[in-house]
Amino acid sequence: MSISQIARTISASPTLTLNEKAAILREKGEPVIHLGAGEPKSKAPMDAIMAAAAHLNTGEIRYAPADGVPALKKAIIHYTEEHYNRLVEPENVMASGGAKQAIMVALQAILNPQEEVIYPAPYWVSYPEMAKLCGAIGVPVLPEDGTFYPRIQDIEQKVGSYTKAILINSPNNPTGAMYSKEFIADVVDLCEKRDLYLIMDDIYHRLIFDNRRPINCYEYAKDLSENSKLIVINGISKQYAMTGFRIGWAVANKKLIEVMTNIQGHQTGGPSVVLQKAAVGAINGIQSSVENLRVTLENNRNVMIENLNSFEGIKVTKPDGAFYCFADFSVYGKESTKISEFLINKVLVLAVPGVEFGMEGYLRMSFCGSIKDITEGVERMKWALDPNSPNELYIGDRKLVRDWT
Ligand SMILES: Cc1ncc(COP(=O)(O)O)c(C=O)c1O
Repeated sequence: MSISQIARTISASPTLTLNEKAAILREKGEPVIHLGAGEPKSKAPMDAIMAAAAHLNTGEIRYAPADGVPALKKAIIHYTEEHYNRLVEPENVMASGGAKQAIMVALQAILNPQEEVIYPAPYWVSYPEMAKLCGAIGVPVLPEDGTFYPRIQDIEQKVGSYTKAILINSPNNPTGAMYSKEFIADVVDLCEKRDLYLIMDDIYHRLIFDNRRPINCYEYAKDLSENSKLIVINGISKQYAMTGFRIGWAVANKKLIEVMTNIQGHQTGGPSVVLQKAAVGAINGIQSSVENLRVTLENNRNVMIENLNSFEGIKVTKPDGAFYCFADFSVYGKESTKISEFLINKVLVLAVPGVEFGMEGYLRMSFCGSIKDITEGVERMKWALDPNSPNELYIGDRKLVRDWT
């Protein structure tokens, strides 16, 4: 089969592949514990459902403008004012089919083939593939000091004549690390000085713990004119538990938004108007579900950390936000894919291999599921990996016997 050079370089999304695997095993009646998920289990806010239902009831479901319906743009403007203390105009906003599409279209709008986009590692699985889809090059930067917190000097070192943009995701998927104000201020400064785009993937910015306050990149920008190269990405997927609605957005200078709208207009057109209405309902509606989710996640984080801390040999860093824990399992094997496969095969626990996020020897475990899944999932993992485990484990009434060392 003849396929394009770019297509040949694109791999399947490992998280989506794991989702499919979990679904197949569940269909067979297997007691799977899915710690690979990237979506909260709570229901979408009632305001979102009502808004979508009201529009559906009209029976007139038409094309939406490529950059989003006016009501959603207005809601995003309101969101930006409330959470970033920044007043933008409708021409500064584009709604997309998820934050994923907003980032992809932003990259398509700014990257020429062979140009580079820098992002800290570990990184979200889609960043390298998105860069490749533009014919461009993703440049991961591993913190030299072995932590999950990138240092500005490590990033600065990678900036060269091909660098076009820096892409920051904090709190971070897969580590849950929330970068410091100083770091964000330094990145904003670096991008302004070197005339680079800065894409802030803020999709988890309200899901943070231990009394942390969201960090607002605009506070550190000297240039907030229409020349600003700051692109802020957000969406409803995580904070409102609305992953399936597929609505995200970008806020940037008007010229860039115009170019992005042209691209999106030919790609998919505007996202479904029904789902945009749902997003309007969520953004303008009662916000208590976000705080409820945040509190639940913080509690889940504590339970997962407590359980992982008693896991012989692995190294864990407490996540500051989001809903992932990225732990070092290298004591149990150098290849995270093999550890992940071993855990699925032996104890039906799904965790995402760290190599997919640019860091080998680690596993990403989500704590957005139930407490039962977290405790039982970690217990099964411990049983499978720790050679000092008892010989037998019961999953329901199924007896597992440890016949490996
Ligand atoms: C870091 C990061 N950015 C963006 C997204 C995409 O979000 P959306 O569902 O809005 O496309 C995800 C989803 O997992 C993510 O983890």
